[in-house]
This record gives sequence, C-alpha cells and structure tokens, in this order.
Amino acid sequence: MSEQLVRCLPHERSTEMLGRRLSPLDGLIFLHGELGSGKTALVRGFLRALGYRGAVKSPTYTLVEPYELSGRRILHLDIYRLSDPEELEYLGVRDEQSGDNTLLVEWPDRAGGSLGEPGVEIFMEYDGAARRATVRALSEPAASFIKVLSGLK
Ligand SMILES: Nc1ncnc2c1ncn2[C@@H]1O[C@H](COP(=O)(O)OP(=O)(O)OP(=O)(O)O)[C@@H](O)[C@H]1O
Ligand SMILES: [Mg+2]
Repeated sequence: MSEQLVRCLPHERSTEMLGRRLSPLDGLIFLHGELGSGKTALVRGFLRALGYRGAVKSPTYTLVEPYELSGRRILHLDIYRLSDPEELEYLGVRDEQSGDNTLLVEWPDRAGGSLGEPGVEIFMEYDGAARRATVRALSEPAASFIKVLSGLK
C-alpha cells in the first residue's frame, strides 16, 4: 500500500513549496534527514499554506511548538535533544496524539519507536547544494493523496 514521491529541490523555496503541497496531510508525519537538510524549511511551507505568517524555527530547545491554523491543531516537534523517550510524556505529546491533530516530527528516531507508526515519512537528503525529498505514504488516505500529487508537476 505504500506510495512514494521523489522530488529534486534546487532551492529553499522549492522545499517550502513541497511543504505547502503536503499541507492536506494529517496525523503522524516523520521528517528524517541530516542537520540542515531542510526539514524545518518544509514544515515552514506546510504551516504557511494553512495561513501562518510568523517565523518558523526548529523548536530545538522547547522540543515542541503548537499551532492552531485553519481549524487544525498542528504540532511541530524537533526531538534532536530528547534525552529519553519518556520525556515525550512530560511534554504532553502523548495526549496530543489523539483526534485529528497533525504532528510533524524532526528526528523521530530519538523517540525510540514510542510515537508509534507514522502515516507519512519524509526523507530529506543533500544533493550537492540542492536537496532531494522522498515522501513515503504508509496509510491508505496518505497513499491516495501522494498518488494524486505524483501526477502533478
Ligand atoms: N532545496 C534546497 N536547496 C538548497 N538549500 C536549501 C534547500 N532547502 C533548504 N535549504 C537550506 O538548507 C538549510 C535547511 O535548514 P533547515 O533548518 O530547514 O534544516 P533542518 O533539516 O530542519 O535542520 P535541523 O536538523 O538542524 O533542524 C537552510 O539554510 C535552507 O536555506
Ligand atoms: Mg529543523
């Protein structure tokens, strides 16, 4: 059932544009990739598409940043500095994993599997000065969405 989309992203604005296009996706979304590979740039586009106008930075120290946009609750997590997966409990992340919330998680491996299975995984890679993104849909609704998106330029 998994569906995959690969995109070459020559500039930061291409990364943001991909994020915009992915904004209809909800649930648990994992963002993999090295430091500076463009995970936050993609999240910025995602949030902008939903009407957010402020600055978007990785919540490297606070670990989680909540947004209420277009009737949706979106949580942007950067858990690079998570010392223990247990910490997610204290941060209230578990409670946020219900209902229709969207969680965009940078460095999801730091959670040691405790966040559960994502519906979508995004892999950001360096490609010279540019980037390459692979979007993998693991849930049925995300797979149908990605299939449609693959048909678009
Ligand atoms: N497609 C692209 N081509 C070239 N540069 C890009 C592209 N997308 C993003 N960048 C640049 O790469 C950097 C990406 O930074 P960003 O904070 O998004 O990375 P990150 O993956 O979130 O890193 P971290 O793991 O440290 O949070 C920025 O300087 C941005 O301008
Ligand atoms: Mg980041």
